[in-house]
Amino acid sequence: MRAWTVWAAMAVAGIVASSAVAQSAGGVAKDTVEVTLPAGNPFPPGPGSDLANAHCLICHSAGMVTRQPPLTFDEWKAEVTKMRAVYGAPLPPENIEEIARYLATINGRP
Ligand code: HEC
Repeated sequence: MRAWTVWAAMAVAGIVASSAVAQSAGGVAKDTVEVTLPAGNPFPPGPGSDLANAHCLICHSAGMVTRQPPLTFDEWKAEVTKMRAVYGAPLPPENIEEIARYLATINGRP
């Protein structure tokens, strides 16, 4: 009888201790941290650069695009289509051609 009482007291103490841990973990979760990300460089200005800024900087820098070897309009179209279909860029299909035209202007070849 006595052993049972001691065991029960320890179990209760255990429960109390673990709920205290849960409470302090909850307190930590409420802390907020401010993070300032470095401002990325936008695409060079020109017709279509707004679309590129809005849709191509979500996952990588403009340099990832402008440092590539120059491509034809059709190749840029395929590249933008790949960003959409393979990597999941949330880009309306009706904007593909305009962005490809812009990219062929800033980094194109005949
Ligand atoms: C949803 C994320 C995402 C978005 C949005 C996105 N890309 Fe990408 N892009 C990627 C990934 C992932 C890679 C491959 C990175 C690597 O290989 O390290 C990549 C690579 C590239 C490359 C390098 C060549 C290649 O095929 O790997 C080019 C050029 C490029 N993206 C252009 C664009 C353009 C233009 C847009 C806007 C229309 C765009 N991306 C939007 C994810 C994205």
